[in-house]
Amino acid sequence: MKTIGILTSGGDSQGMNAATRAVTRKALDEGFRVMGIKKGYNGLINGEIEELFASSVSGKLSRGGTFLQTARCLEFKEEAGILKAVETCKEFGIEGIVVIGGDGSFRGARDLCLHGIKCVALPGTIDNDIVCSDYTIGFDTALNIVVEMVDRLRDTCESHDRCSVVQIMGKNAGWVTLESSISTGATAMVVPEVEFDFERDIVQRIRKSQALGKNHFIILVSEGVFFDVPSNKNYKYVKEHGIDSAAAFAAKVQQMTGVEAREAILGHVQRGGSPTARDRIIATEMGNYAVGLLKNGISNRVVVMKDNKITDYDILEALQMKKPFDRERFNMANAINI
Ligand code: F6P
Repeated sequence: MKTIGILTSGGDSQGMNAATRAVTRKALDEGFRVMGIKKGYNGLINGEIEELFASSVSGKLSRGGTFLQTARCLEFKEEAGILKAVETCKEFGIEGIVVIGGDGSFRGARDLCLHGIKCVALPGTIDNDIVCSDYTIGFDTALNIVVEMVDRLRDTCESHDRCSVVQIMGKNAGWVTLESSISTGATAMVVPEVEFDFERDIVQRIRKSQALGKNHFIILVSEGVFFDVPSNKNYKYVKEHGIDSAAAFAAKVQQMTGVEAREAILGHVQRGGSPTARDRIIATEMGNYAVGLLKNGISNRVVVMKDNKITDYDILEALQMKKPFDRERFNMANAINI
């Protein structure tokens, strides 16, 4: 193998640039030619590709976003799109690709492997919802942003005797919400994976907190709770109870408890900004590992973090794994946070 491509796909996450930098520099060091594929699988279909040199990734380690840009590519889900991508690979001499993204991106990598392009995938998403890996690149940065924002909200809630209902990203998973709840001591949290009851899990928790003398409350709600997705156990409930948005949720809190409540939707701010040291380090280690696999002729693998060690799995096997939601830590947070 002489030429390796790199692409970032799906939603961006902090540390994708750090991973691209590591792959580029390590691959060059190993004597490969490196091609940057723009806008995810779209760039592979359209031939939006440029050669990367050591200098191309200078200054990228600390930058958020992904300079290769990213996209969710519907055309690549069809056989015709995959065949076009394979043609582009031939045209540019790309024999191996490192794909950085979520599990939708891994499926694309597997499809390319089936057509003879050697692919290795890296988990990149703020959601930490990739089943085969304990950690995904971007999670730590997003979590720290949420914690900072919630700390700010708490200050103003305290001044006004208010409640903040904070909507946190994670369409399919509540990991960011869980860990930010532990880190901020939120009064209550709602995630798609765990069924909740408004009276028991919100109103009574606020009452208990008031009984301890508290005058301000933080409720973290994973946005997935408002989406009709398979992982969401609460969709029917929020629809039936008229609490199917952060604003409606806050209005209900106010109506049921008498505490003035406001919603705060953190949105894409969670996906921007400079990656934390943890994300930079893991992205670098995973990028380095991915090139090592390709160098040894190994492909169709996902690089993962398991028990604090970087290792790899077959993509298909990885896609079939399960990652049960961490109910133990969910219960722990609910017991300790009042
Ligand atoms: O998967 C990452 C993520 O940020 C989710 O947390 C969120 O639900 C979704 O992407 C938002 O996607 P988009 O940026 O396309 O609106």
